[in-house]
Amino acid sequence: MTSHAAAHSPRLHVACIMDGNGRWAKRRGLPRTAGHTAGEEALAAVVRAAAQRNVGWLTVFGFSTENWVRPPSEIRHILGLHRKLFGRIDELNANNVRVNWIGRPFDEPGARTPSSVQKAIVQAIDDTKHNTGMVLTVAFDYGSRAEIARAARRASAASIPAITAELYDSALPPVDVLIRTSGESRISNFLLWQSARARVYFTDCSWPDFGATQLDEALALVASPTA
Ligand code: FPP
Repeated sequence: MTSHAAAHSPRLHVACIMDGNGRWAKRRGLPRTAGHTAGEEALAAVVRAAAQRNVGWLTVFGFSTENWVRPPSEIRHILGLHRKLFGRIDELNANNVRVNWIGRPFDEPGARTPSSVQKAIVQAIDDTKHNTGMVLTVAFDYGSRAEIARAARRASAASIPAITAELYDSALPPVDVLIRTSGESRISNFLLWQSARARVYFTDCSWPDFGATQLDEALALVASPTA
């Protein structure tokens, strides 16, 4: 890549698997829920930092289709944190961030998003729809293989563009950098199709400790020249 290409500073798509909230809390002798609370605050800070950098899309794994097996009290807490995040409207608007969501469509068989979270999602999307900056997509009740299988069933042809057009959000561009925190080097069924050519940033840092410094390290992966 030449300096000419870098000068264009393309808007990047960054995806985050926000792992390690539970272990972060355990190390401090706190309940797992305290780790998730700190994780939501870290996310709010990362949204602000990303919006101030050349990040056009930030997509985060908020709750997977596999997460429903967690204890009900932990699930309730995490759902409350999603409502908290989707309620940060003043902050999102101040940063020109548009909220978006991907996951099993609410009206399809098997979908599990509770109505209180559905309402929070719909409201946040509406309250931020005029923003023109970064798009924050929260994956909730999301699993990538189910997304791809559904897209393949609905596609008009067995071609890459036709399948891409049927993903939960066909407007999401390919992922440039996929981040996973807390020392796990797995993709865990997140954005498999969209991350086909992504750089991957694995860090030992727990999600509650992830901030602008770590975001810059991840972004440096795409700023560096490619062969
Ligand atoms: C991983 O921690 C994180 C999750 C299960 C997803 C929930 C994320 C948050 C609550 C952060 C805030 C985000 C939103 C969208 C409100 P873990 O419990 O798997 O940690 P562990 O691997 O250390 O047990």
